[in-house]
Amino acid sequence: MNIDLLLPIVEGIAVQAGIIASSHFASLQEELVTIKTDGSPLSAADLDVDAYISEQLRKQTDVSRILSEEGSEHQYLANGFCWIVDPIDGTRNFVQGDSSFAISIALVHDGIPILGVVHAPELQETYSAVLGGGANRNGAQIQVSACSDLTRAHIELDYGSHPLTVRFHAHVKQALLLAGSTTRNVGCASLQLAHVGCGVADAMIHRRLSAWDIAAGIVIAKEAGARIGNLDGGSKDLFAPGIVASTPEIFSLLTTITARELDAEHTST
Ligand code: 2AM
Ligand code: CA
Repeated sequence: MNIDLLLPIVEGIAVQAGIIASSHFASLQEELVTIKTDGSPLSAADLDVDAYISEQLRKQTDVSRILSEEGSEHQYLANGFCWIVDPIDGTRNFVQGDSSFAISIALVHDGIPILGVVHAPELQETYSAVLGGGANRNGAQIQVSACSDLTRAHIELDYGSHPLTVRFHAHVKQALLLAGSTTRNVGCASLQLAHVGCGVADAMIHRRLSAWDIAAGIVIAKEAGARIGNLDGGSKDLFAPGIVASTPEIFSLLTTITARELDAEHTST
């Protein structure tokens, strides 16, 4: 399989999917929104975009296995090739009328993300990468910032919704602020990883995400020079719920904080 040839195909699918998402976004007052069992919102756009992406990936590529957040069939297998799709990452932002949402499509091989496209239609930003080929934003190469310490580091740190994640993020935020960093809440994990890739952020941290939130962003951030790991500092397992992505220089400073907080969480539960 020639991954380089696949990239423009996936970018094209993401851009077309973005047009569908934007048409829903333009008439949000009519958007049908329900609440999923985990308490997060599900809009008609999530389902429309998901149906389009699944159909096109199967029509235009040789890989038919798809794991999607909103898919009816979860076809992930640890071996071989599989698409991992989040039709709308940042649905909470989307239904609020906040433009920070993205379409995220990744190709995974034997559990490793090897191609990623993150497209934010309302921001007119398309990030893409193939393992070993560098990372791009709107066709121009990107790389991580030169940030080398936590003083003045700019870190995208989400809030989460589960009580455990809220407490984790609050404690990590306090440690970061005391170290001199600034934090920002974006609400869209794939964009946060892309921001680390292009230096808009020096790091991103999240306590609990799913593989579809991060698979594409991982390739983009990694190819732009980021270091990525689990919250304990170990190498990133796509299906482990936490993630730290940052410039290589501040990675262990950050995972010292997240590992300590994870230990405190385990001790108190
Ligand atoms: P989503 O919009 O696709 O659900 C916001 O904190 C980030 O976390 C978003 O990327 C969001 O993706 C994701 N997210 C929200 N609720 C989640 C949950 N219960 N489990 C995992 N990820 C979640
Ligand atoms: Ca989603």
